[in-house]
Formats: sequence, structure tokens, C-alpha cells
Amino acid sequence: MSETAPQQTDADRVLIFDTTLRDGEQCPGATMTFEEKLEVADLLDGMGVDIIEAGFPIASVGDFEAVSEIAKRVRNATVAGLARAGFKDIDRAGEAVRAARRPRIHTFISTSPVHMKHKLQKEPDEVLEMVVASVARARNLVDDVEWSCEDGTRTEHDFLCRCVEAAIKAGATTINIPDTVGYTTPDEYRALFRTVRERVPNADKAVFSVHCHDDLGLAVANSLAGIEGGARQVECTVNGIGERAGNAALEEIVMAIRTRADAYPFTTGIDATQLTRASKLVSAVTSFPVQYNKAIVGRNAFAHESGIHQDGMLKNTQTYEIMTPESVGVSKTSLVMGKHSGRAAFRSKLKELGYQLGENALEDAFNQFKALADRKKHVYDEDIEALIDQEIASAHEHVRVLSLTVIAGTMGPQSATLTLDFDGEHRTVQATGNGPVDAIFNAVNALVPNEANLELYQVSAVTEGTDAQAEVSVRLEENGRSVTGRAADTDTLVASARAYVSALNKLLARRSKGAPEALRAV
Ligand code: KIV
Ligand code: ZN
Repeated sequence: MSETAPQQTDADRVLIFDTTLRDGEQCPGATMTFEEKLEVADLLDGMGVDIIEAGFPIASVGDFEAVSEIAKRVRNATVAGLARAGFKDIDRAGEAVRAARRPRIHTFISTSPVHMKHKLQKEPDEVLEMVVASVARARNLVDDVEWSCEDGTRTEHDFLCRCVEAAIKAGATTINIPDTVGYTTPDEYRALFRTVRERVPNADKAVFSVHCHDDLGLAVANSLAGIEGGARQVECTVNGIGERAGNAALEEIVMAIRTRADAYPFTTGIDATQLTRASKLVSAVTSFPVQYNKAIVGRNAFAHESGIHQDGMLKNTQTYEIMTPESVGVSKTSLVMGKHSGRAAFRSKLKELGYQLGENALEDAFNQFKALADRKKHVYDEDIEALIDQEIASAHEHVRVLSLTVIAGTMGPQSATLTLDFDGEHRTVQATGNGPVDAIFNAVNALVPNEANLELYQVSAVTEGTDAQAEVSVRLEENGRSVTGRAADTDTLVASARAYVSALNKLLARRSKGAPEALRAV
């Protein structure tokens, strides 16, 4: 348990910079639709994130539009758009964040020898000139400019200090030193911040920031060490999603600071009771499952299985619990309601689970709940969450599964008769396949012709028992970009059809918003 925390001052306030919508969304399969990004941004804003990196506006029309819309609607947080060092990138980012109450341009360039030589093919002095020009350009557009030295932890210290000093002189208000490849260690990263802050004469004019990747599983430890070294902004993502092994997980950083205030005498502005909700929403919209034993937000994070632990917990919860489930927004798993439960009970259950739905969405969800309660004996919180997450993910889909009949069993070939709703127009087809799922996918392909490659088909159970809902994830790849669809139903085959159609909807949405531009280093 945490000991008494030392007295804290404003200087101990750590800004939370969430990059779920940019670095998180960049990882294969995590693509979110426009509406899903808005939903995540609203939640991040509501839970007290200080800066939301909403996207990379030059990357595609879809990214630009999402950043612009998030800039317009976010109430409290600063909204940042990412840009390489080129003026086209910076101007586009400036345009995208213009409507924000607090706009920020985040511009970056590589500074390590290996990146400058092989990726940029530029000499250090050329890079230094670009640092100054890019920051100055951004500063002409907004007052809040962040500069990042990509691959900062593998950059020579003298050159790093020269770049940081020049960036601050050119107008950067935040300096981020990323561990782009997840290579550093806590001691090394802490010392790096101390060195740069001591050696750069104008260091006191900027906030320093950590940005860690998890290739060696050290992203959170490194981030905390960077804060000890003087950084006061942490860049992180919900559930730690991100490039390769991911980024530092927001929920882990927030709870490490809260739970071990004796070791980390800092504060954040995050309402920790929203952490579980944020994790579930991000998992639902990206269709990335959260590993069961994930710290803070994993299904087993507060589960006590062994007899000795259970005995200890019954005597005093502090024996095996260093933070309470309630403090991160976990409600106790409970049998909720059955088919006789009414709207009022359903509404209050949703509130308890952290969902805020409009009247129409609530009505739809209630009808779905009733249908589920008719088919399933016990409806648990997890069932309701799976159902609502699916509603959220499919709310803006143009193609929907209307009905499905499958003939399966030993007497093949298996066949599927499927009706899809295309914005009100119904089309039906029958197809056969090598097994029922293959037959269903063939039927979908007959109605929605596509060239996408199936990268993943995965089934898991939401709760226990043979009447449990099956949760199906389907990942598709088209032109080098992946999307994931997820759906839950007590019928595994219906869930499979919905998950596949959901992924195709995402591909269709991406096509209509413009494919991402092939990005080159500047
Ligand atoms: O990991 C990285 O270096 C980045 C930068 C763009 C900040 O994501
Ligand atoms: Zn990154």
C-alpha cells in the first residue's frame, strides 16, 4: 500500500498526452472509423487527458477530417496534429487543428546517425536547419508547438542538445525525446533527461516529454524514469496499443503514479474511474482484445483464484489488492437482469458500466438486450458490454447482416443463405463452402465483392457456459493496411458473419475517405 505522499506542487503535475488515435491507430489492424475516433476523443477529453494527438493530417483525407472534427468538438484538452518537417505537412496539420480551443502542431524529424544516414540521407547540419525551419513554420500557425527528435534515445548527446536548443529558440514549447525503437533502459532514459535539461541553456523554456515503445517490455518503466529525470509530459496510449509491441499504456502510468505516490510524487489530471471504460471502448473499436492478465484493465487484474489468496482477501482486501477495482472503474461481475427487466433497470445498468447512450441508441440496445435475454439464461455485465460495444462499432455501418441460415454437419457441402441490408436495400444469396464459416464468407463475398486478404479469424467466449456469447474477430488486409471487425452473439456463425461484414464496412469507409498517402521520411 502507498505510504504518505510528500507534499506536491504544480511542478509535480504530469501532463498526459494520449496518442491512441495517432501512434495507436498506426498499428496493423487498429484502424478506426471517423465516428469511432470521435467517440474515443470524447471519452479521452471527459476523463481528463491533457493533450489528445488526434491523427496525422497529411496521411489521408480521412485522417485530416477526423483531426479537424475532433479539434472542433473537444472541450478541455489540447488537440495535436502530427507533421513531418516538411512545410506541406505542417500547413496541413495547422489547418486541421485550427478550430481547436487549444491547438498544437507536433512536428518531428529523425536525429540518430542511423536514421539520418539511411532514412533521411541527410547530413546532421541539414537536419539541424530543418529543425529550425519546421518549428518556426509551425510557430507561425499556432502558439503551442511540440518538437520530437525521432529515435532520440539513439542520438549522439552533443547533436541532441544542439537540436533541442535550436528547436526551443525557434519557438518549440514542448520537447519530446522518443524512445522510438523501444531500446533504452530506465537508468539511461532518466539520465538522458537530466543531461539534456542541464546542458541546454534554454531548457527551462520548454516542457520535456517522454514517448516510449515497448519492444523490450520497458515502456512504462522508462516513461516513469523519464519523469524522474525531469519530463513533465507522458505520451501514451490506452491499452498500450501502438507500433510493433505498442506504446506505454496510459492506465499503467496513471495508476503507478497514484498507487505509488511515495515513489512517484507526481499527479495527473486523469479520472482513474474511467480507465476501464476507456480500455473497453478502445478494444471494441479497434477489435484488439485486451490480454486477460493485462495490468489494471485485464479481465483477471482483480481476480483471485487460489484458495490462499481468496482466504486472505476475505479477511482483508489489502492482503492481495494494492488498488481497489472501483478505483479504476471495475464494477463487480454480477448477474444483471433477465428478460423481465425493464428499461429503467437497463438504463441504470448502462450508467453503472460507464456508457452514456442517446435515446435512440438506448432503445436499440434495450431491444438487443431483450433478444439476448430470451436466448441466454444468465445475462452478465460482460454480455451487456459486448452487446453495447458492438452497437457502438456498427452504428455507422452501411452494410448489415439481416438474416442467416446455415446448413452444417457431417453431410456436406455446408451452405449459407444470407441476406444483407445495404442502406435499406436487401440482397440475398446462397453459397457453399468448406465448412460453415467458409460458406458464410463466400456468401458475403458474393454480395460484397472484394480483394481483401483474411489475416485473422478468431473466436472467444464472452462468459462461461455453452450458451455464452461468442466474440469473433476478423482482420482483413487491403493495399497494405489492415482493419478488424468484431461481433458477439450466442450463435458463433451469426457472430462470424457480423464480424466479417463489420471489417468490410471499415474497408469501405476507408476507401471513401481516401486511402492513406504513401508516407516517406522528409
Ligand atoms: O515513436 C516515435 O518516435 C514517434 C514520433 C513521431 C513522436 O511516434
Ligand atoms: Zn511512437
